[in-house]
Amino acid sequence: MQHTASIKEARLLLSSYKDKKIALVPTMGYLHEGHMALIKEAKKHADIVAVSIFVNPLQFGPDEDYDSYPRDLERDLGICEAEGADIVFHPEVSEMYPGEMEFKIGINTMADVLDGVKRPGHFEGVVTVIGKLFNIIQPDIAVFGQKDRQQLMIIEQFTSDFNIPVKIIGVPTEREESGLAKSSRNVNLSEAEFNEASEIYTALLNAGEQIKNGTVNTDKIMSFIKLHIEQQTSGTVDDLAIYTAHGLKSVEYIDEDVIIFIAVQFKKARLIDNLYVSL
Ligand code: PAJ
Repeated sequence: MQHTASIKEARLLLSSYKDKKIALVPTMGYLHEGHMALIKEAKKHADIVAVSIFVNPLQFGPDEDYDSYPRDLERDLGICEAEGADIVFHPEVSEMYPGEMEFKIGINTMADVLDGVKRPGHFEGVVTVIGKLFNIIQPDIAVFGQKDRQQLMIIEQFTSDFNIPVKIIGVPTEREESGLAKSSRNVNLSEAEFNEASEIYTALLNAGEQIKNGTVNTDKIMSFIKLHIEQQTSGTVDDLAIYTAHGLKSVEYIDEDVIIFIAVQFKKARLIDNLYVSL
């Protein structure tokens, strides 16, 4: 495995694989089994797997956890090597953003809901860095987790709108045995919070069952989820919505596939999760 913090060197390393199929797994590091699942999936589809590790300041708001976001490059490089990655690109901020950018990516409606509203500018920052990474690595495919479902949907639309020749692959959420979605931010939970946080998935699964059993009223389902989380955890529901799986449109009465989205705020970590419910 080779690794570099330099764009020039990354391009040089990749130039020897011109005839190979290249997959990119973009991450912000502090890797866990969720990221490992993406690397494993990438290996199934490509000859060469590149992992990027970059905590992208552009996608963090001024009051968010950019500074406290966990980082451990040495450990991450060990994990990438063990998972069979071929190249790791881990630039500094000054390499990716040598100066203020003149151009900005704007998102129309897909950032008008959920984290697009709760975290203004977040998805514009994500799409900007993904665009840059696609241009640097020039992968044939790129792998993203369904854990960040809105992000995955926005990136799919981005590549489609701009005719970017990168195939996007979505990977199911990797979970703790308790059901809690694996996340780099879980280290910022206390032990008690870590245990309680599994109730997020329990509430989603119960809600999914209710929908499948014929409950169609989204308000009723959301009240049930909110009550469950607030009774079973010390966290507060920061965001909760049910949208159509195709198009992210709000629904009052469910008559097609939907996705339930949730964000729960604990003392030092905001956790997100979602469940796709197919009818
Ligand atoms: P990060 O949070 O490090 O996540 C990197 C990738 O891992 C994303 O595609 C995310 O959806 C996926 N992932 C995280 N937890 C997962 C889990 N439990 N199961 C499956 N996949 C999981 O998402 C980002 O970084 C950034 O926004 C990025 C796309 C790298 C742009 O900066």
